[in-house]
Amino acid sequence: MTAKPCILVTRKLPDDVMARLSAGYNVIENENDETLSSDEIISRASSADAILCGPTDLFNKEVLDQLPDRLKMITTFSVGYDHIDVPAAFKNGIQLGNTPDVLTDATADITLLCLLGAARMAHSSAMALREGRWQKWATTQFLGIHVSGKRLGILGMGRIGQAVARRARGFDMEIHYHNRNPVTDARGLEDAIYHDSLESLLGQSDFFSINCGLSDQTFHLINNETIDLLPKGAVIVNTARGPIIDDIALINALKSGRIAAAGLDVFENEPTLNPGYLALENLFVLPHIGSATIETRNAMGFKCIDNLDAFFSNKPIPNPITL
Ligand code: DGY
Repeated sequence: MTAKPCILVTRKLPDDVMARLSAGYNVIENENDETLSSDEIISRASSADAILCGPTDLFNKEVLDQLPDRLKMITTFSVGYDHIDVPAAFKNGIQLGNTPDVLTDATADITLLCLLGAARMAHSSAMALREGRWQKWATTQFLGIHVSGKRLGILGMGRIGQAVARRARGFDMEIHYHNRNPVTDARGLEDAIYHDSLESLLGQSDFFSINCGLSDQTFHLINNETIDLLPKGAVIVNTARGPIIDDIALINALKSGRIAAAGLDVFENEPTLNPGYLALENLFVLPHIGSATIETRNAMGFKCIDNLDAFFSNKPIPNPITL
């Protein structure tokens, strides 16, 4: 009988996922869900044949170069893979997998939650109620921004961007987007308006939603200059990756009212929220829970196992990360 391959799992997994994984593999677990440093990952990987990691585990060239020679597969429990140096992995002969599709709906839902939460002052009004500061119904209290009929600008019209657009249609929003290319086959979005530049999109966005990946090109793409191109009083939503926004620029724009409100599920330097955000009443912020439903997290875990099963059966990985 051949020994089961050994998988290093860097984060605690949902029970159903763990049950299926441990039926087919020897698993090095992280039962307490501690955040592992790069050194700890390298040391725990010394007897592993593959790694199942999370989106906050950094696999840069230095880490990848120190993994054991026999380890040729990493699957990430995420659709985003900005934490992995893909060319360096491929140079080391490591195949990579991720978990697309199954988190599209959950992430699009959270995007609408952030949009509505920001527009309707969900954080500050709920806090006033919880803290006993709400004394009466008043015509001028907790006044948010009307959503229906407004223009929603979407940066990145991939799977999640399209799902956001479809949901926003239900709120009678007019859809604008910028993408590398116009999207021609998006069901129900035939009249979405394509902008061939970010600058043009920003100028037409009462609400601006970031749904693109993080890369060298998108790092701090939303900064003082680009924020200035939005209509005064626009709302910014980010459920993609924190570092796409320059926090200081957004904090200043929220303070001055140049940006009326923001809804963020992700932010730079997670899990530490820039202290400048803390005092802002016009911020609705969540702790990176875009894909956090039981169904979605199970499906993501099963996709990781599908990737591992294919790899160890010498079959093509069903959800490969490619260059
Ligand atoms: C992803 O999949 O990239 C998310 O950020 C984690 O939910």
